[in-house]
Amino acid sequence: EVGVLRWQFCAAEGDAGCGGGGDGARILIKGGTVVNAHRAEEADVYIEDGVVVAIRPNIPVGDDNVRVIDATGNYVMPGGIDPHTHLAMEFMGTVTIDDFFSGHAAALAGGTMMHIDFVIPVNGNLTAGLESYKQKAANAAMDYGFHMAITKWNDEVAREMEVMVKEHGINYFKFFMAYKGSLMVTDDLLLQGLQKCKSLGALAMVHAENGDAVAEGQQRMIDLGITGPEGHALSRPPILEGEATAWAIRLAKFINTPLYVVHVMSVDAMEEIAKREGQRIIGEPVVSGLVLDDSWLWNPDFTIASKYVMSPPIREAGHGDALVAYSKMWSQSPLKILVGTDHCTFNSTQKAFGSDDFRKIPNGVNGDRQDFCHHVRVTSTECAKIFNIYPRKGAILEGSDADIIILNPERSFVMGAHTHHSRSNTNVYEGRKGKASSSSHIKQQYLVWNSNPTSEYILFIWCREWWKSRYQGGEWYGRMVC
Ligand code: URP
Ligand code: ZN
Ligand code: ZN
Ligand code: ZN
Repeated sequence: EVGVLRWQFCAAEGDAGCGGGGDGARILIKGGTVVNAHRAEEADVYIEDGVVVAIRPNIPVGDDNVRVIDATGNYVMPGGIDPHTHLAMEFMGTVTIDDFFSGHAAALAGGTMMHIDFVIPVNGNLTAGLESYKQKAANAAMDYGFHMAITKWNDEVAREMEVMVKEHGINYFKFFMAYKGSLMVTDDLLLQGLQKCKSLGALAMVHAENGDAVAEGQQRMIDLGITGPEGHALSRPPILEGEATAWAIRLAKFINTPLYVVHVMSVDAMEEIAKREGQRIIGEPVVSGLVLDDSWLWNPDFTIASKYVMSPPIREAGHGDALVAYSKMWSQSPLKILVGTDHCTFNSTQKAFGSDDFRKIPNGVNGDRQDFCHHVRVTSTECAKIFNIYPRKGAILEGSDADIIILNPERSFVMGAHTHHSRSNTNVYEGRKGKASSSSHIKQQYLVWNSNPTSEYILFIWCREWWKSRYQGGEWYGRMVC
């Protein structure tokens, strides 16, 4: 039903300075446990030119030019793939603080090695939007792809959607049912959009919240004198997410086309997805919705409370655990669940735009997912399959990209604004302890690993000129975290 995503945007191939990976680097990862979604096995992994060439026990080292990495006692896993991010996104009067470089640094540190970002059209124009995002991505440090939002409807948009699918390999289109007055689409637009997606073999994605009702709820809070971040949660309760999710699913059924529901934050929405009858629905919970609850929004310190403002809101305790249970239950079934981050970071200064009116707090939280990267299936494989990049990504198989994490299960680390590589000065997971540390990411064009056994979590980045130009120093130049 769904067309093939020609995934064309790639840090390695797109950046001449990166050399496209043709330098013949050879790496042998010895003694680890190779973890794929379908199987875990003790094996060595041999990589040439950024591609996995062999996986079996006791691969001999061969000659001196092979870089040997001892992975004894470690898990060797495919890099995470994040289906949902907003890097350098212009939104709510400002721009997300992480661009394609700092966002990539933060992602790599957490074991995410590819992501798919949302192109926002420029005044409704898709081609202009794509051009602008290609520029934003010029300093990319890992592989990426694009989805695209549809914010306006006319014949030109319909034509451009076809161009995006056929010429640019972009065939996932997001419709915002919320953000009245900016990104929100009308009911009619959504209907036209779903129909167009169906005719192109593209997949429609929805941000499912009833935007009119949200605006109404916001006004109610303001009228009651509730202007703080708690007003954000109170103004857009789960019922508005459930309603919009149900509506979009039924409309997709009427058109007879599949649907992808982004950032499923509530049981109300997940239950609507679970009720689907013979429909192809993909549900994407995000890390913040799985591990946090809305109590933070009541924190009397605005700087703390405002960093938890995102949409749909982080829900009250119970929703997250239920979403985790759903994703476990369904990970083996035909229903597709994958986990994204919705990494959409604003620093405390940007958040303070809304210090006297929660409606002006830029919506979005950071998306570290270090504590999830052992879930190979939901953080990598499922995503690679849904977006047609499996098994090049999402698995360690012969022929796969060598986007590899080496995870030490014995280690732990503390998440926070001082270690996360993001440009933001806040982190919604501040102080949480990660169970393991993803100490290595291997691809021929960059190599990140924990080379200092005395420290908990020190990453060094080694690379060629284009990396070096971004940090000072010699071959070993980038001490990014300590
Ligand atoms: O609050 C959020 N989620 N910000 C990012 C934009 C979106 O709706 O995904
Ligand atoms: Zn590549
Ligand atoms: Zn959204
Ligand atoms: Zn988002």
